[in-house]
Amino acid sequence: MNPTFHSVPALKELFAADFKIGAAVNPTTIRTQKALLAYHFNSLTAENEMKFVSVHPKEQTYTFEDADRLVNFAREHGMAMRGHTLVWHNQTSDWLFQDRQGAAVSKEVLFGRLREHIHTIVGRYKNEIYAWDVVNEVIADEGEALLRTSKWTEIAGPEFIAKAFEYAHEADPQALLFYNDYNESNPLKRDKIYTLVHSLLEQGVPIHGIGLQAHWNLYDPSLDEIKAAIEKYASLGLQLQLTELDISMFRFDDRRTDLTAPEPAMLEQQAERYEAVFRLLLEYRDDISGVTFWGAADDYTWLDNFPVRGRKNWPFLFDAQHQPKAAYHRVAALAAEQRA
Ligand code: GLA
Repeated sequence: MNPTFHSVPALKELFAADFKIGAAVNPTTIRTQKALLAYHFNSLTAENEMKFVSVHPKEQTYTFEDADRLVNFAREHGMAMRGHTLVWHNQTSDWLFQDRQGAAVSKEVLFGRLREHIHTIVGRYKNEIYAWDVVNEVIADEGEALLRTSKWTEIAGPEFIAKAFEYAHEADPQALLFYNDYNESNPLKRDKIYTLVHSLLEQGVPIHGIGLQAHWNLYDPSLDEIKAAIEKYASLGLQLQLTELDISMFRFDDRRTDLTAPEPAMLEQQAERYEAVFRLLLEYRDDISGVTFWGAADDYTWLDNFPVRGRKNWPFLFDAQHQPKAAYHRVAALAAEQRA
């Protein structure tokens, strides 16, 4: 018989001396994955429930029920909570950028609204949320431009980034404030993220960490690229967290849809990959304060529909029945070996 998730050592205990072990959750998974979460994880992130459009759909309307539910779950289980996310180009309500006639607001109005939003949400969870992803994904993936074009840059230029960190710091001076992005190990994007954060630090902006989303797959990015990214970011003197880790079974441009279960070779490859990744994370444990998976077990992952609609994926350490996979066993053995 295979061991069940509660007959093996808890991930959070195995890495207690190294970093927090987190999972992204939503109101469904805190029910369907409750026992698994409580046993293995000591940090949570709201998958969608704290994003702008979720908490602030209309100018005078805040909707905190779902976010509160997740925060209460974390409190009841003695878990840390990360906040995600204050400024993003996606899942942000249109009203924020418009006046009543639908024309773009001025920079001053936008900043006033942003400040009010940040003070309200960061203030509300001041005692529960220890770290915030303040700004998410503003770097352009390709080309020369540093920032992606968005409503934020169109109305306010680059200044919204510093403002968001300043407002968050005012609202909760204790909170650790992160810049968070994906493709963070790609050398071109890595250097741009470094440039942005370096300039924020030079301006005296209150920023304390960089979130490496770490939406990776069996093949990419290479370990050398991950290592180089960690070293470059750590050279800024900030703490690092993996904020959205998953290891997809498919290359990003792989369109195959024929599998209904992972092939044994894939599971083995994933186990090797997770072991190698965690070996690297342990090497940089002094710089890394948290490792959060973008989910907890293979029964629920955003990758089930992205980027190929309807295709299932199996990116985690626990399978769809919440049982530990080969990847869990390799990571656990590695942790035990480190402690020995
Ligand atoms: C980005 C965001 C997350 C989430 C994922 C996809 O990484 O930061 O909040 O939306 O995309 O699920």
